[in-house]
Amino acid sequence: MAKIKVGVVGTGFIGPAHIEALRRLPNVEVTALCEVNMELAASKAAQLGIERPCTFEQLLAMEDIACVHVCTPNFLHHAQSKAVLLAGKHVVCEKPLAKDLHEAEELVALAKETGLVNAVHFNLRYYPLVRQMKTMREKGDLGEVYSILGSYLQDWLFYETDYNWRLEPDKSGDSRAIADIGSHLMDVLEYITGLKTVEVMADFNTIHKTRKKPLKPVETYSGKMLKPEDYADVSINTEDHANVLLRFDNGNRGVVTVSQVSAGRKNQLKLEISGSKQTFAWNSEAPNELWIGNRDRSNEVLMRDPSLSYPEARDLMSFPGGHNEGFPDTSKQLFKEVYAAVTAGKQPENPSFPTFADGYRELLICERILESSRKQGWVKV
Ligand SMILES: NC(=O)c1ccc[n+]([C@@H]2O[C@H](COP(=O)([O-])OP(=O)(O)OC[C@H]3O[C@@H](n4cnc5c(N)ncnc54)[C@H](O)[C@@H]3O)[C@@H](O)[C@H]2O)c1
Repeated sequence: MAKIKVGVVGTGFIGPAHIEALRRLPNVEVTALCEVNMELAASKAAQLGIERPCTFEQLLAMEDIACVHVCTPNFLHHAQSKAVLLAGKHVVCEKPLAKDLHEAEELVALAKETGLVNAVHFNLRYYPLVRQMKTMREKGDLGEVYSILGSYLQDWLFYETDYNWRLEPDKSGDSRAIADIGSHLMDVLEYITGLKTVEVMADFNTIHKTRKKPLKPVETYSGKMLKPEDYADVSINTEDHANVLLRFDNGNRGVVTVSQVSAGRKNQLKLEISGSKQTFAWNSEAPNELWIGNRDRSNEVLMRDPSLSYPEARDLMSFPGGHNEGFPDTSKQLFKEVYAAVTAGKQPENPSFPTFADGYRELLICERILESSRKQGWVKV
């Protein structure tokens, strides 16, 4: 079987996660790796066992590369995804799809025009119990959605000495916590409930108004220790913490909180969706358990188990119950669906995976949230 050859651009934190997940697919081979310069590309390619280190231009010119994964900082997503599509290659882009709506709109239109496969790595949709909740809602088990409570909390920017390109709007965009992790949360909530967010009211807070920027580059989550003389003071104008009230298209309401300064919360997406029949509660740090709340009988805990799940969720499970599946499995399951489309050679009519159009939708919601926080009032999406 000839394998589909793939190139990955950007190999900091998430690029290697893409590579590992791709290597778990039988029909795919990660052939080329592109980095910010050739020296880094060569050392990363050697470290990750990838045949061809290259520049971005060289990657685009490689005729045998069918698909490119864009895993660079946010400000590069638009230009790089656009160039990949124009080179006639399928593309998987990291979230957020672009820095602003205008860029995202252009990418959606171009992807449509080319007919090439386009996906955004909203991998949290691919926890099997997230799809189980979506399927239960579709089959009527949840009933009408009454209310939604969601949070996404992290602590990796807890100290004023924690620093990353995400703190700089020219690299990350004008919103930080909402765009970086709120986008996953909003995507998952609409995905499970099938509702559309129609109005938002946001309140942002920047806890560390000044941070200490290292004078040498540091990779995301790499935990490098620097000395005081290695820092410069910079003022911060994006949110560490945000609360957002939500109104949905069924007339009901929700609320979400995101924070990157919550000590002890490493990477916790939590949601509680209450319907007219049941409540679902789920936590990404214990992703193999779904709490189901009942009014007239005992509450339940569903353990992820293919034999106890709907077939739609079973499709995302590679291991029996009790053999926990987690974050690295979500990308594998997402890519499994994307590469079925790559094998077919075009974007499916109704893709099961998140597309550039979904990336656009998340940017739209995030921009309205940002606008609301600036106006301190309700804004329509
Ligand atoms: N879906 C998820 O769960 C998830 C998780 C983390 C990050 N992300 C997204 O992935 C993207 C990357 O985040 P990260 O945490 O890996 O960042 P990172 O800073 O750890 O890595 C970025 C990499 O891109 C490389 N790079 C920079 N400029 C480049 C260029 N011009 N050409 C090629 N490579 C270049 C850097 O050298 C670095 O290796 C972000 O957009 C982020 O939002 C998604």
